[in-house]
Amino acid sequence: MVEVLKRLTEARGVSGNENEVREIVIELASETGAEVSVDRMGNVIARKPGKEGAKKVMLAAHMDEVGFIISSISENGMLKFQTIGSIDQRLLLSKRVLIGKNAVPGVIGVKAIHLQLPDERNQVVKQKQMFIDIGASSKEEAQKVVQLGDYASFDSSFVQFGDNKVKAKALDDRVGCSVLLEILKEDYDFEFIACFTTQEEVGLRGATVAAYHLDPDMAVVLEGTTCADIPDVPEHMMTTRMGRGPAISFMDNSSIANPKLFKQMVETAEAHGIPYQIKENIAGGNDAGTIQTARSGVATVVVSTPCRYIHSPSSMLDLEDYYNAVRLVKEFLKGCESH
Ligand code: CO
Repeated sequence: MVEVLKRLTEARGVSGNENEVREIVIELASETGAEVSVDRMGNVIARKPGKEGAKKVMLAAHMDEVGFIISSISENGMLKFQTIGSIDQRLLLSKRVLIGKNAVPGVIGVKAIHLQLPDERNQVVKQKQMFIDIGASSKEEAQKVVQLGDYASFDSSFVQFGDNKVKAKALDDRVGCSVLLEILKEDYDFEFIACFTTQEEVGLRGATVAAYHLDPDMAVVLEGTTCADIPDVPEHMMTTRMGRGPAISFMDNSSIANPKLFKQMVETAEAHGIPYQIKENIAGGNDAGTIQTARSGVATVVVSTPCRYIHSPSSMLDLEDYYNAVRLVKEFLKGCESH
């Protein structure tokens, strides 16, 4: 399971350009015996048919991650860029990125502290002032390896460290994809539809199309969510805490959980002695927001793995939370079968 998480987080998949991630998902989903297809939005849909006339249960996790797109190339060979998805611009300086199909390495440049005027040192450098340096000495040289519209992602490797912790980029939501691929190995008596969605970070676009097309009876959304159990954050703002189990949401900025499914998820954790936590702050949004309102409405619930520093090149999770998310959702789905 750790290997899958490593593979998925090291693959590049900025919204709208999820190809690398999609290839891995197709490969691993096919190995489970599911019938795998890709729709026009690039969503990967892996189905396992249930009993005749059984209800349709959709599980969703998004494949895309936040990143950048190259918007212009300067005469001196430097690249200007736009962000895709929400990224705190204060964390961009000096970060390494990989650009385009050939993964051209680049660095987000910054004026050295020696050259900054005293008041500049107290200001946040705006993203619009930033540039990516690929070592090209002219526009012509840069154009040999980078085109306008090329995507760029954070260059960050998967590291296991500390007390069962992992550091990687894109844990939001490759952890959800990993959880879903693991659950897909099981067979249930309902129709199981695993949907690996695209373009979540830019407005839940893949899931909107998928939920309309699939028209499920209920959905479980698997996420990597904010975790701020760090110094100087008041307790009620921590949202989730690492190592305390998967987080079940009663509400976030995009959806309100179906009360029955929320209760069933909590009771499942209690009944099986699986560590869990209730997400304690109304923060973030995810594919449940659009799945919930598809067609005549879908009962949804969200289960997230707590991740510190999401939307950065170095997000973190506790492997036990990841394993427990798999356990919890598997047991929950067993409870959804008709007996
Ligand atoms: Co997410």
